[in-house]
Amino acid sequence: MENLSAIVLAAGLGTRMKSRKAKVLHEAGGLALVEHVLRALEGMVPAEQVTVVVGHQAEAVEKLLAPRGCQFALQTEQRGTGHAVAICRKQARHDGLTLLLYGDCPLLKASTLRKLVEQHAGGATLITVNVANPKGYGRIVRAADGSVEAIVEQKACTPDQDAIREINSGIYCIDSELLWKYVGQITPNPASGEIYLTDLVEVMRRHGHLTRALVLEDPQEILGINQRVELAQADGILRARKAEELMLAGVTIRQPETVSIDATVSIGMDSVVEAFAQIRGNTEIGENCRVGAGSVIRDSRLGDGVDVGEYCFVGTSVVEAGAHLGPFSRLRQDNHVGEGAHIGNFVELKKTKFGKGSKAMHLAYLGDSEIGPGVNIGAGTITCNYDGRVKSTTSIGEGAFVGSNSTLVAPVTIEGGSYVAAGSVITKKVAKGALGVGRSRQTNIEGWVERKK
Ligand code: UD1
Ligand code: MG
Repeated sequence: MENLSAIVLAAGLGTRMKSRKAKVLHEAGGLALVEHVLRALEGMVPAEQVTVVVGHQAEAVEKLLAPRGCQFALQTEQRGTGHAVAICRKQARHDGLTLLLYGDCPLLKASTLRKLVEQHAGGATLITVNVANPKGYGRIVRAADGSVEAIVEQKACTPDQDAIREINSGIYCIDSELLWKYVGQITPNPASGEIYLTDLVEVMRRHGHLTRALVLEDPQEILGINQRVELAQADGILRARKAEELMLAGVTIRQPETVSIDATVSIGMDSVVEAFAQIRGNTEIGENCRVGAGSVIRDSRLGDGVDVGEYCFVGTSVVEAGAHLGPFSRLRQDNHVGEGAHIGNFVELKKTKFGKGSKAMHLAYLGDSEIGPGVNIGAGTITCNYDGRVKSTTSIGEGAFVGSNSTLVAPVTIEGGSYVAAGSVITKKVAKGALGVGRSRQTNIEGWVERKK
């Protein structure tokens, strides 16, 4: 597959989305629509040979895609798909083959693109499919010799053409030389004034260059997203694909139709994902883990054998091997939970390093804290990390025991091997081996009840 380059059209606003956000930035399967298209090109077309045509919210689209190393062309006025391609003339390669793709087709598979290139035999080749409901798509008009005579957009269809079930996917492979020779000759559509890329078929045909079709069996793959019902359909298909890929690689997924796993997630063998779990973003999960029902994990890393109970939230955190979370734990952001540690129900962690084998089993808030290994945090422990102005750190050393319902007013240190008495308000350092008591001593007033009567 030498001399391949690609142009991806992503300049439109997508009026039918009824959104302030450019269509190609809307997400399905955990990635923006246009990112899926670029992923399909990966490994086939070198990134620097891919030009993305941007227009609406060009800056946001460029920011999202720039790390992939592709090129950009700015279409300041959206004058149609043909115009969008034409503006790439200067920076595009004029030799070899050019793939043309629309940024709103996220379901296309890399294997299909390969097939398109393999089948290409000069002129242009485009992907088509027969669908039950061709509404909104350009119809494929076939010539007597079986080649594609024209693509007619829905609006311009005669009743006969309207009944055609074979539609244009918007994915083309074309000899670059012919593309740059003829794309400038497309005339604006008389009704809309736009320059339609689809009219290139007729222009080339006039000059003796045929367009052939690669007909796909699966109409799903070329679903173009124009409104939000289609966005939800694409999202469902991408998630089902991801679940299937993981199951085939040895991950158990219970009730996969309820589970939502982004394309960017990896999960190791013999891990189990329970119903209604959501695993999002750049999350890596090791082997033999469990993600309990209803839990949400985002941009996090879980080592092997981590057990996440039901209804937990884990955001931008690292959880080391063998740790237990939940049910109902919240690892809000930037936490590091050590090997074999236990975080129980209604425990919230924020920017906290929680040591190996340490436990916080019930009802606690641990924010901006450094907690060593083998520490026990009693039920109801609260770090007071914020004084209304600044956030401060709580440090708890190895093997310390913090009694239930303690209030740790930061900045404060509880040294290793020390104890904090239950119900204490701790404002000063508790030294190694000491017991910190920060509450008044209990007094029992004998006979009080009788006297009160
Ligand atoms: C297009 C095709 C139609 C095909 C369908 C497949 C044309 C004229 N029609 O219709 O035959 O069946 O896709 O999904 O090509 N864009 C630009 N600049 C522009 C206009 C569009 O970059 O000036 C981009 C859009 O951002 C979008 C893509 O091109 O990503 C396709 O545009 P869209 O308006 O969705 O075309 P369709 O009406 O779907
Ligand atoms: Mg479209």
